[in-house]
Amino acid sequence: MSITYQENNKIFHLTTKNSDYQIQIDPFGYLLHLYYGKKTSHDAVGITTFYDRGFSGNPGDVIGDRTYSMDTLPQEFPMDGTGDYRNIALSLEDCKGTQACDFRYLSHSIKKGKYTLNGLPYVYAREEQAETLEILLKDDVLGMELTLLYGVIPEINCITRSAILENKSSEIVTVDKAAAACLDFLTGDFDVITFHGRHTMERNVDRSPVGYYATSVGSRRGTSSHQYNPLMILADQKTTEEYGKCYSMSFVYSGGFEASVEKDQFNQTRMLMGLQSSNLRYRIKPGKQWIIPEVILSHSENGLTQLSHQLHDCINNHIIRGKYQKGPRPILINSWEANYFDINADNLIGLAKEASELGIDMLVMDDGWFGKRNNDDAGLGDWTVNEDKLGMSLSEMIDKINALGMKFGIWFEPEMINEDSDLYRAHPDYAMTIPGRKPGHARDQLLLDFSREEVVENIYQQMKDILDHNHIEYVKWDFNRSISDVFSHSDRIAGEVLYDYMIGLYGLLERLCQDYPDILIEGCSGGGGRFDAGMMYYTPQIWCSDNTDAINRTLIQYGTSFGYPISTVGSHVSAVPNHQTGRITSLKTRATVAMSGTFGYELDLSKLSQEEKDTIKEQVAEYKKYAALIAEGRYYRLSDPKEEHVCAWSFVSANQEECLMNTIQLQIESNMKVFYVKFRGLAEHSYYKDEKTGSIYSSDILMEIGLPLKLLFEEYHSEQLYLKKVEA
Ligand code: GLA
Repeated sequence: MSITYQENNKIFHLTTKNSDYQIQIDPFGYLLHLYYGKKTSHDAVGITTFYDRGFSGNPGDVIGDRTYSMDTLPQEFPMDGTGDYRNIALSLEDCKGTQACDFRYLSHSIKKGKYTLNGLPYVYAREEQAETLEILLKDDVLGMELTLLYGVIPEINCITRSAILENKSSEIVTVDKAAAACLDFLTGDFDVITFHGRHTMERNVDRSPVGYYATSVGSRRGTSSHQYNPLMILADQKTTEEYGKCYSMSFVYSGGFEASVEKDQFNQTRMLMGLQSSNLRYRIKPGKQWIIPEVILSHSENGLTQLSHQLHDCINNHIIRGKYQKGPRPILINSWEANYFDINADNLIGLAKEASELGIDMLVMDDGWFGKRNNDDAGLGDWTVNEDKLGMSLSEMIDKINALGMKFGIWFEPEMINEDSDLYRAHPDYAMTIPGRKPGHARDQLLLDFSREEVVENIYQQMKDILDHNHIEYVKWDFNRSISDVFSHSDRIAGEVLYDYMIGLYGLLERLCQDYPDILIEGCSGGGGRFDAGMMYYTPQIWCSDNTDAINRTLIQYGTSFGYPISTVGSHVSAVPNHQTGRITSLKTRATVAMSGTFGYELDLSKLSQEEKDTIKEQVAEYKKYAALIAEGRYYRLSDPKEEHVCAWSFVSANQEECLMNTIQLQIESNMKVFYVKFRGLAEHSYYKDEKTGSIYSSDILMEIGLPLKLLFEEYHSEQLYLKKVEA
């Protein structure tokens, strides 16, 4: 049993392989958060303190006891209206505009298996892999019920949280703020780790001490965003990759989010994650339910690497679904950086031909094939093949590409519309614009109002027409602007649109996943602007960044690895000088970086020399050899590329028989210090052989002292060392 309830002291224990989470129902029916941390069967009793604190008041029914305050107690789900002045998880408003709620315990149930969420992505598990705790709370004055959902997946040390609000009154109740998870810590000095960035430079790691203020990151862009990722880690200030306590929250949602951490007046720390509140005002009508999207919690006592491994396991085994969950993904050649908008059947078939000779599996026709799409100011919304531009029908072209032994994939940006499109001319109201205002443009495009079913249906039918009549095995699903001008030509108010938009988007993705189970969908939002666990439920891989520069990518992929497995990281070798930075790196360095992802190429192969083509052929063969190790092996960050002049990382197979270690020399100095790569995760007291050179290494020495890298006069030099365990 991973979930137990003790009637005598009203404590729930949620137990995973290495951690324990405790909740107590207090005498007033509030839920107190007692403990989350290292596994223990002991109850965390006697840890809550009661003092008469000035300006920390007492709930209305706690008469005569000035020591009981929601402002000081550790809580499971802090709400607006109970006297807690810290950040709160929930704020509701009644029909008169009064903002207050006060939910108290009513009942609970413990079930086998993991709960599911209607219309939203969620962590799934087989019945024997998980248990669910549902705690039902009620606010009698509002006539609202709140069910807190906990999913416990012991094997991967993850606990999920979500909540469902149900309006049992006869009036509308409006949600102004809704987080899915809150963690309160009575003790501890923490750092908060967040992942900030910008277009083409996503998920830089920031680690700062939690101070006496509320720190929050989030996105008001309607997407999870390039700027902040919906992943937050709280780590003991002494925690490193290998040692120490840390906790993470990861949002299974791709829209706007808010994550905060604060140290309160008594040194207690609170961490919260949920929906972005600045544009949330959701009316729950009488009799209706409303779901707060899910947050994955994870905890490690052994540093950040273990935390990452748990999150990787969660995403690989409990988020990603379908045919491509396990097993090799195709190696792609993508037309974008090869031809941009200048595509036609001749150059695409030519690219496919060159690629097929190198062992590449699939040609992806990127932007430019539909409507009047010759640059980025027209055509979005018109998903009809521009046969004049291609020079033949799509199916004819695909037949020719398939005849070369190549699969075929295609690009869509389903949520967008250009004003210069037939769809806009026919249905201007489908675009998100505010009546009377000139809509904000980005990349010359507007958003389609996916909160409306008829808009989603229109796009579904257009996509279906393309997918039904052509042999397409992959779809790249792009999204190239932030949302603005939030307004719906429907009965929704603005505060409801972004949530319903996500329901519309997820509904369409789900329909396509069901209709076309053999199609691999790769997510993308100008690269990694929607790189989150929510999208991964539908799109097993996501284009990690529009930046294909190998050196910048080491940083981007390093940051990404904290919360997301390599199997999700779309990564390609592109041309030099690099189109985003102008930097020149060797083909080997570019491939070493791109191999730490779902490998592919994105350049005009016809411009390469025979020698370069031969190298690519070898790289493709090499990647195929390592593909399973890379996708399924344990990923180790062996250096911090922000701080060190070498970026080093490795993959170790589950049985510790194989290891692929990678390094990139980021900087070069005269008379350099030697960089030792300290391996991790190998079998102790064992020997490993480099099959290329025949050299044998002791795992203990590799892990205790490290492998000295050669001093070379070459910036951006890369090494890949493939080791196999051998008998002594
Ligand atoms: C975005 C994507 C690119 C490419 C272009 C096409 O920027 O991230 O990979 O698909 O759109 O317009």
